[in-house]
Amino acid sequence: MPHLLQLTDWTPNDIFLLLNRANEIERGIDDPKMDAFIVNLFFEPSTRTRFSFEIAEKRMGMQVLNFASDASSTKKGETLYDTLRTLESMGVQAAVIRHPKEGYYNDLKDRLDMNIINGGDGTGHHPTQTLLDLMTIYQEFGGFEGLTVAMIGDISHSRVARSNALTLERLGAKVIFSAPPEWQDKGFSGTCMLIDEVIQMADVVNMLRIQTERHDQTAQLTKEQYHEAYGLTIEREKKMKPGAIIMHPGPFNRGVEIADALVESPRSRIFKQVHNGVAVRMAALEWAMTAKTKVVMA
Ligand code: CP
Repeated sequence: MPHLLQLTDWTPNDIFLLLNRANEIERGIDDPKMDAFIVNLFFEPSTRTRFSFEIAEKRMGMQVLNFASDASSTKKGETLYDTLRTLESMGVQAAVIRHPKEGYYNDLKDRLDMNIINGGDGTGHHPTQTLLDLMTIYQEFGGFEGLTVAMIGDISHSRVARSNALTLERLGAKVIFSAPPEWQDKGFSGTCMLIDEVIQMADVVNMLRIQTERHDQTAQLTKEQYHEAYGLTIEREKKMKPGAIIMHPGPFNRGVEIADALVESPRSRIFKQVHNGVAVRMAALEWAMTAKTKVVMA
């Protein structure tokens, strides 16, 4: 049963197949159709992932069930496995799940006869965010080999930083990091540098939000001080390379990690990322539910 849980075991060829398929869908060539029941279970807040999956599912003609965790029997102690087993028994064929527990799917993936698509697991992985980020970079630069991608902000609590860095390096990009000392992550191979250094080196400046829901460290700084010390300010943007782009997975906090005026500036691809999210999720659902793109997945 194909699941989309993380990208670490996808080959570069698998990834390019899916990106090319997403590009086809984005250009309106051969929209995939799927006659199936699918459920979206979000145990954490979401706007982009949840609604772009729902739009993707509806464009594909699926019967979409939206699970309200606060109004479900999980409130009576039912486990995630039993919830999914119950939905599977009713005929639900796939589940998009966001959950605060890292690797929540390890206990599910071999026990259910339904496709699981990971919509984000704690500080673990966010594979469809990575795919839409890759699609945005691919559209801009035509590939990844030789590019320098800077991940800047709360690295240690970011599943996007983890998913993107691990995948981009395998595609030939160099990933560099910048973070306040308390949010650096020693697990990544790249060194952590000052933001003023990385923004001058990067082809892609990928800003990250402070993940306040995952820790109680409020940075010993006000929002304004954080912006000056670690954010993408107007002054720093002027030092970016010609042709370099700004990305952010969202949600973004204007005036904190990124200057208000830069969110919709010419270098920004933030809303292009959101746009690409629908096509990427259609391609991902098509892959999971039909294996049409022939990606081999462990
Ligand atoms: N990037 C992202 O996952 O955004 P949401 O939390 O709004 O889904």
